[in-house]
Amino acid sequence: KLPEPYQVPLPVPPVLEPASTSGTTDSYDITQRVAELEILPGLRTKAWTYGGTFPGPTIVSRSGRRTVVRHRNELDQPVVVHLHGGHTPAASDGYPTSLILPANGSYDAHRAAQDMAGGKHGMSMDHGTMDLAEGVRSYTYPLKQRAATLWYHDHRMGYTRASVWMGLAGFHLVHDDEEERLPLPGGDRDIPLMITDRSFAEDGSFRYPLVDPEFHTPGVTDAYMNGVLGDVVLVNGAPWPVHEVERLRYRLRFLNASNARLYKLELDPQPEGGDAFVQIGSDGGLLAGPRRHDSLEIAPAERFDVVVDFSRYRPGTKVRLLNRFGDGTTAEVMRFDVGSGSPADDTTVPEKLSEVVSLDPGRASVTRDFHFRGSAEGWTINDLEYQPGRALARPKLGQTEVWRFTTNFHHPIHLHLDHFQVVSRNNRDPGAFDHGWKDTVDLRPAEAVEVVVRFTDYAGPFMLHCHNLEHEDMAMMGDFITE
Ligand code: C2O
Ligand code: CU
Repeated sequence: KLPEPYQVPLPVPPVLEPASTSGTTDSYDITQRVAELEILPGLRTKAWTYGGTFPGPTIVSRSGRRTVVRHRNELDQPVVVHLHGGHTPAASDGYPTSLILPANGSYDAHRAAQDMAGGKHGMSMDHGTMDLAEGVRSYTYPLKQRAATLWYHDHRMGYTRASVWMGLAGFHLVHDDEEERLPLPGGDRDIPLMITDRSFAEDGSFRYPLVDPEFHTPGVTDAYMNGVLGDVVLVNGAPWPVHEVERLRYRLRFLNASNARLYKLELDPQPEGGDAFVQIGSDGGLLAGPRRHDSLEIAPAERFDVVVDFSRYRPGTKVRLLNRFGDGTTAEVMRFDVGSGSPADDTTVPEKLSEVVSLDPGRASVTRDFHFRGSAEGWTINDLEYQPGRALARPKLGQTEVWRFTTNFHHPIHLHLDHFQVVSRNNRDPGAFDHGWKDTVDLRPAEAVEVVVRFTDYAGPFMLHCHNLEHEDMAMMGDFITE
């Protein structure tokens, strides 16, 4: 009894207005609260939201202008906010035990710690790392970074999977002069697309297999150790939506905000001559030049910024966005209905997009190895389960390092603080989807990926983790302390 696909128009999340702005700073207010949303036609879904919508409102910032976001927590659970892809000082980075307690006073430190540490998959708690805010916390983002598609989401230890599933995710876009000078599609032809999969109960409520439906004990039931997959694909919170497009170029910012699902996105029909997607950017902003793809493989937390030229389709074509890694209901994502006119298009994709400085792995002063491993008990990095306050590495600020990731399973690996560049995959050249500045790299079973990174500006702790949210919450996370 799932809805038919292509019945619902694509929602585009609202852009948040600043509460105040000054010469240097834009300040925003977000209240996290439960909202009843109509996600499946005719049913109500109780979601945890940033300001009443899922996805949350899009924050749009200017590179180098300080953005302060004041979060008020009116949920009845503690929360943590992380700006994914943000070059952010540790105090505002959303450390997993830096909680905002519910404003209703229902939590104290003891209960907050107990909720994170309890149960079979609870992690060990060092209470010394807990940093509690009562009801409200302001996060300060200097945003000294390039234009890029960032996103914000919950990051509470042990509960990221459940809170993101319940709706706590939104876009945060950064613009800069370099990007603005390019003749790329903009305005309502620049569309952020957050792809998530979800399951629903008969009554329309989100179905997430947490061992404790009251959200006081972390952990999913054993069958879901590898990750939770849903059977409904949502784009910007709507099931298999439709979007009407003109026969013009569009900039589509794909974000895979799913807990565990990997997608292979493909347009059907393909435009004649192939190369449907002209990739212009990745996690960390614009590429040096465009790269053309027939399909996009996108792991949890990755972003692909692409231009699609719908004038390559005949008027009236209905173009489905498929997921070639899915089956049944998860093989379809959304549809673009191409208009009938032939409007003039003054946008182009230049062959030179951006200045991308290459980090030289030959100048790395340290090479570090991180092995991501699963066992019946949970998920580990270098055989260690996450423990707040324990550093897996202590990189020096400003120093170039090579980090080498290996695994026996599939894991999207994410670093906080700075973007990196992929040096090699299985000792060969980086893959088709590894280009540009990345903050998440997809690691497949038995693969080895080397990245080069230079952490700058801010002393840690920061996080290194698998972005399969079930793995992350079952301890596949570590601190690194920049100094
Ligand atoms: Cu998108 Cu540490 O997270
Ligand atoms: Cu993983």
